[in-house]
Amino acid sequence: MAFLELMNLTKKYQGKILAVDNMSLGINENEFLVLLGPSGCGKTTTMRMIAGLEEVTEGDIVLEGKSIKGLQPKNRGVSMIFQSYAVWPHMTVYQNIAYALKLRKMSKEDIKKRVQKAAEMANITEYLERSPNQLSGGQRQRVAVARALAVEPKLFLMDEPLSNLDAKLRITMRTELKKVHEELGSTTIFVTHDQSEAMSLADRIVVMNKGTIEQIGTPNEIYHNCESMFVANFIGSPPTNFIDVTIELEDKRVIAKHEAFQFNITTHIKETLKSYEGKKVVLGVRPENFTVTDEEKKLFKSKVQFMEPQGSHTIAVIGLSGQQLKIVSTKIFDVKVGQQLNIGINQKYFFFDKESGERIR
Ligand SMILES: Nc1ncnc2c1ncn2[C@@H]1O[C@H](COP(=O)(O)OP(=O)(O)OP(=O)(O)O)[C@@H](O)[C@H]1O
Ligand SMILES: [Mg+2]
Repeated sequence: MAFLELMNLTKKYQGKILAVDNMSLGINENEFLVLLGPSGCGKTTTMRMIAGLEEVTEGDIVLEGKSIKGLQPKNRGVSMIFQSYAVWPHMTVYQNIAYALKLRKMSKEDIKKRVQKAAEMANITEYLERSPNQLSGGQRQRVAVARALAVEPKLFLMDEPLSNLDAKLRITMRTELKKVHEELGSTTIFVTHDQSEAMSLADRIVVMNKGTIEQIGTPNEIYHNCESMFVANFIGSPPTNFIDVTIELEDKRVIAKHEAFQFNITTHIKETLKSYEGKKVVLGVRPENFTVTDEEKKLFKSKVQFMEPQGSHTIAVIGLSGQQLKIVSTKIFDVKVGQQLNIGINQKYFFFDKESGERIR
């Protein structure tokens, strides 16, 4: 059994709003797990149930082999950092960090040691006597982290803890959180809807959609081996391009056919696709898996509609039979809008079932 098990966890608000739908998931000790998904998919609800702030409608939550479903939040060994990190303005930083320890009736001396240690980890030792409104957003965020660290929880829950910070500070804090996690080896569940944050922090990512799990995997698995159109679309910026093609068989060849191009499928997926003969499937191609190539190697010709320079690479919006595709290239810096490009495709494409949106394997 994993360190934390969510077993068929379900939450219905007011008996009708299904926020989390029969979710099962195991989290290993020391793991940094990220819940990622669009707004309203049930991330916060899941976290609140684990923390004990929201009643579980059905299912169970098991920590180190014991159900914690019936326990008071303070007895669960779980610490939560919220989106609005809510440090208490009327207390000094020291008092903020010490508060939960006082509630536990720890001795003054032990509290002092714990506060010092947590403040060091969060890099705020010099601000302990200040009031939070004399701190910057990033420093306040660190107070929230120190406060959670001080109780030495078995499990850390962080619900979009960086969302109030500006872009640059988010990235700095991200690195700091990762460092703290590596030093402590604490088991952490982190919520975000920022996929770049998810990719850089997670041991494993749980992609959620409408209260259910779409896919669980390492950042690389989620990106390179997505199981559904939802994941292919949600992960990656710009997202995966989707093109409807028809599967045709000619002699021994399996062909993906579109009005503007066709190609032989040579990867292992060829065998499975035979059963789709005459049917439409969805071809998924990540922007970087289109290539700008020469006349002989091209799959199709396409006119550039927009150029979006990004410095290290360029995103080009190109047309294909009335559809827009986004391609990413590190080579086309001086291409002009209206110019024709020869577009090729490398072997890293996916096929999806048009009805279910599931990956065809
Ligand atoms: N107290 C509540 N009463 C009724 N419905 C709620 C309540 N809290 C959340 N919901 C609904 O449950 C669903 C999941 O909400 P939740 O807050 O868990 O989403 P989320 O994934 O955290 O979204 P976000 O990224 O916007 O924070 C939403 O449809 C939301 O409207
Ligand atoms: Mg939320």
